[in-house]
Amino acid sequence: MRIDVFTLFPTLVDGFCSESLLGKARGSGILDLRLHDPRQHTTDVHRTVDDSPFGGGAGMLMRPEPIFDSVEAADPPRPLFLLGPGGRRFDQPIAHQLAKLDGFSLLCGRYEGVDHRVRQHLVDGEMSVGDVVLNGGEVAACLVIEAVARLLPGAMGNAASPVDESFGVSGLLEEPHFTRPADFRGWDVPDVLRSGDHARVARWRRAQALHRTVAARPDLIEARGGISDDERVLLEEFPPVPYP
Ligand SMILES: C[S@@+](CC[C@H](N)C(=O)[O-])C[C@H]1O[C@@H](n2cnc3c(N)ncnc32)[C@H](O)[C@@H]1O
Repeated sequence: MRIDVFTLFPTLVDGFCSESLLGKARGSGILDLRLHDPRQHTTDVHRTVDDSPFGGGAGMLMRPEPIFDSVEAADPPRPLFLLGPGGRRFDQPIAHQLAKLDGFSLLCGRYEGVDHRVRQHLVDGEMSVGDVVLNGGEVAACLVIEAVARLLPGAMGNAASPVDESFGVSGLLEEPHFTRPADFRGWDVPDVLRSGDHARVARWRRAQALHRTVAARPDLIEARGGISDDERVLLEEFPPVPYP
């Protein structure tokens, strides 16, 4: 998959995406990440990429010319998404949709954002990573890239399956997990996980995923159409592991 990122701070994105599994995905050719700096497309001596807003007001905006020129020179894979708090909320279903593409592109804003003509005439949509305001789109870009790239075949090795994770096919949050030691400071691992009874472990896990989702994300339970009669039996059979 090819992902192009337009950013005034390419080293921020490059650094993050060079480590761990993302770095390996790039090294093995699973992910072809290309970074473009609109500042390279300025013509004045100060390499100016921002200007004050028409009509006044606080802060500066990214000028349209370097952004348009940078995008047009790169001819990046579409769709091209502007990252911004006003965009469509990025989530796991969107990550899965993007992972099916051959490529897509991200445009990172800075300052108070971009000249509106970028939205109107250059990008294909706007994407937000949550109801928070960041200083720039780079952290948002890294979030999107990591969430999508880990879904690409071969990117996670055999270590994990996106099917069994939170927001996977079950539509539930993941159940709690424990590793050694079985007794840590007097806090024991649930007996069922050490019982060797795989069918019972599977039922316990499903019950815990349900308990956790009911408590933390009732909206997800509603989205999957509630809880079935079989699941109610499971919930009664296994009490919830406490969460803080
Ligand atoms: C300081 S923000 C601009 C915020 C803008 N003035 C507003 O009130 O909506 C600068 C840049 O950070 C990025 N950014 C900030 N918050 C974001 C979010 N929640 N999701 C994606 N990108 C974000 C965008 O690229 C944005 O252009």
